[in-house]
Amino acid sequence: MTELGIASFESYADHIRLHPEEGERLPDIMHITVTRFYRDATCWEGLGRVMPGLAASGRKVRFLSAGCCGGEEPYTLAIAWKELFEERFGPADILAVDMDEAGLERARKAVYDKRSLRELPDAWRERWFIASGRRLHLSPEIMSMVRFERLHLVNDALPGSFDLIMCRNLFFTYFTEDRRFRAALVLWEALRPGGALMIGEKEGLGPRELDIFTPWPGARCFFRRAA
Ligand SMILES: C[S@@+](CC[C@H](N)C(=O)[O-])C[C@H]1O[C@@H](n2cnc3c(N)ncnc32)[C@H](O)[C@@H]1O
Repeated sequence: MTELGIASFESYADHIRLHPEEGERLPDIMHITVTRFYRDATCWEGLGRVMPGLAASGRKVRFLSAGCCGGEEPYTLAIAWKELFEERFGPADILAVDMDEAGLERARKAVYDKRSLRELPDAWRERWFIASGRRLHLSPEIMSMVRFERLHLVNDALPGSFDLIMCRNLFFTYFTEDRRFRAALVLWEALRPGGALMIGEKEGLGPRELDIFTPWPGARCFFRRAA
């Protein structure tokens, strides 16, 4: 509105009616893209508790980062996998999706500002990033572990079935109750029986969502898909 010199929401709504291309831009400029590596450390610490259950079948473990932004979340998972789990459970399959093409482009380049790595354990940062001026380049070995796809989590069908879906700082923060529950059902359907949902440290599930997901004992932020 500031850019266009429009002072009221009513006038802005009129502007959108007259200029539909403005409405098409809105989803790209309205959403929140704050993220960082190893965001919510206590959540990541819980991964060690859920992994043995998820990997028990011996199949390749399939992950989805839903709303992956610039790649910080799925790359954190890839680093954690390399550091903590790969030797024991073999390779992982990590798909990361977002509706925002600009975020996906940043993710595919995998060059980050130092600030976005401030929570990542030092040893991991030193092992998996190469400094170039003020920027840090992620190692190609970690980059090759994650596939990125553009996908709208509400309008598009989710591909395949996953052992763990990370959906943090998205539905369970920004959606109203009904939309939240519908979104939770979509995630439930995309999970394998016994699979896990990971949400953000400051997020919680409401009573309806707790009918289809049960808290994972001892692992904050994790919920098991109910039968
Ligand atoms: C606040 S960021 C959270 C990033 C990361 N999950 C985290 O917790 O740090 C929310 C991301 O969700 C994406 N997003 C919002 N609505 C979406 C939708 N319906 N489908 C796909 N991505 C969506 C936004 O583009 C943004 O990159």
